[in-house]
Amino acid sequence: MNARFERALADELETLKAAGTYKRLRHLTTPMAPQVHMEEAGEVLVLSSNNYLGLADDPKVIEAGVAALRTYGAGTASVRFICGTFNIHRELEEELARAFGFGAALTYVSCWSANTGLIPTIAVEGTAILSDELNHASIIDGCRLATQAKRLRYKHSDMMDLEARLAALPREMTKFIISDGVFSMEGDLARLPEIVELAERYNAVTIIDDSHGTGVTGKTGRGTIEHYGLEGRVDILSGTLGKALGGAAGGFVCGSASLIDMLIQRSRPQLFSNALPCTVAGSALEALRTLESHPELVDTLRENTRWFRERLRAIGYRPLDGEAAIIPIIVGETAFAIAMSERLLQRGLFVTGFGYPVVPEGTARIRVQMSAALQRSQLERALDIFGHVGRDLGLLATA
Ligand SMILES: Cc1ncc(COP(=O)(O)O)c(C=O)c1O
Repeated sequence: MNARFERALADELETLKAAGTYKRLRHLTTPMAPQVHMEEAGEVLVLSSNNYLGLADDPKVIEAGVAALRTYGAGTASVRFICGTFNIHRELEEELARAFGFGAALTYVSCWSANTGLIPTIAVEGTAILSDELNHASIIDGCRLATQAKRLRYKHSDMMDLEARLAALPREMTKFIISDGVFSMEGDLARLPEIVELAERYNAVTIIDDSHGTGVTGKTGRGTIEHYGLEGRVDILSGTLGKALGGAAGGFVCGSASLIDMLIQRSRPQLFSNALPCTVAGSALEALRTLESHPELVDTLRENTRWFRERLRAIGYRPLDGEAAIIPIIVGETAFAIAMSERLLQRGLFVTGFGYPVVPEGTARIRVQMSAALQRSQLERALDIFGHVGRDLGLLATA
């Protein structure tokens, strides 16, 4: 090992520790659920998982993964076009396309992989990408890989800025507007009706990554497109299977049959990396079917979110508003957010603090994420812990 490089790494890590921004991994010994056993803290309530519908430990979802493993084995030991597509991949992709109302779908090992595989494949020389400045890192990195395209960032959900940038581009140029459906750090929804309207006016292609909206927003959990009633008016949808839809891993792109065919031909993670594990495909397929057959899970999630946000307000917190299942509480400095989440954990509540560079300095936050599986008694306990810690830290407006 190169001694100078090792010293540089150690120095950098010491700097993070001194600044109070060093992240520690927590080790769970039980499945993801409203309550888990953590090696470092014992039994804790979880209000920071993307397990929105509570399907991560659902017996049918687990069993479907096990059944796929038994049927197909561990995998094909190959990328898909060589010899790596099982029919469970096709089944899942057909179901994704049908559920979200698109012509076709393609799975990836993660939504990170989907976004970084999609964007550079279609945003080629002579095209332009217009990307919301608060888009997820996987979109940012996907845009970075599209080295031949013109890349523009518009101010967060600022439709005047987006329009000005669209108007400045040649009319005949292919343009892609790309946005999160639900912004993961704020919990706000993209202004999709206006984005779609601008795209139609300026002949642009719309791409929505609805990772935090899938299974959460819209009457039946079909996401932000359903929430706004914009079915058939968004060109491309990407999403994750690693949150509401089972929570294991995996991502997907939905679009036209030609788009999906082009991704099979040219998208680099498809050409040079193995398929989604069939265990995950089996679990995700079952999760998708559960979403279809149990739309009441989405109602429970929505009601839990509404209740918890309202109760946080009642005890003196100022959570951000929103229609998704993300409830951010802005607390200021990164070190403060991390210290606060540490205190919450000591009292038995697992909620992560986020700071710079994930969010701008000075806007560090505790990000509460709701789950349909959380019982009212568990939410009351979580609220009690928030009350104690908020009073200790002098955070509450009405303590
Ligand atoms: C908007 C968005 N896109 C993509 C991802 C990445 O998803 P995955 O874990 O499937 O790579 C996330 C995960 O945090 C996300 O919030």
